[in-house]
Amino acid sequence: MIYLFTSFMSAIFSVPYVGTQKKLLDHIFKPVHIRSKDIFYDLGSGDGRIVFYIKKTHDAQTYGVEFNPFLYVFSQIINKGLYHSKAHFIYSKVQVVDLSHANIIYVFLLPKLLKLLAPKIMAECKRGTVVVSHGFKIESFEKLLYKEAKGKQFNTYYYRL
Ligand SMILES: C[S@@+](CC[C@H](N)C(=O)[O-])C[C@H]1O[C@@H](n2cnc3c(N)ncnc32)[C@H](O)[C@@H]1O
Repeated sequence: MIYLFTSFMSAIFSVPYVGTQKKLLDHIFKPVHIRSKDIFYDLGSGDGRIVFYIKKTHDAQTYGVEFNPFLYVFSQIINKGLYHSKAHFIYSKVQVVDLSHANIIYVFLLPKLLKLLAPKIMAECKRGTVVVSHGFKIESFEKLLYKEAKGKQFNTYYYRL
């Protein structure tokens, strides 16, 4: 059902939509040691699966930022219906959202957008903020890389500012 819905939206928007595989989430986030006082952002949150996973498993403050109105509304419906609005979703382009409160950021975005986002993250986020990039390296963060996890399809890159 969700697959049909997201495929339909991708076709309309001509934007590729591929969510992080749910079975990989424990593996991806185990090295991050997320605590309930952390402020977690998924930039390009898709159907909200990462935000819901982090809320459920770590009870951190969680924010998803999504510019596709269908995906935004879909995650809000799930959020209000299933999770009673404990997560937050922001309908916005990731390029303009305020990141100054985040201390953990997750991205599964194309390199072109990562290149645009990197200076914004550097300028707005505190020292110590962890950035997890699934799928693609953030080239300008090369010196900040502290871990790389190999995956069957995608590697995951862990940076600390
Ligand atoms: C590869 S999907 C990842 C979804 C989710 N983070 C996950 O891992 O399951 C990328 C998402 O980023 C969104 N996106 C792409 N460019 C964006 C932008 N400039 N601002 C906000 N969202 C964007 C897409 O609509 C899509 O939902």
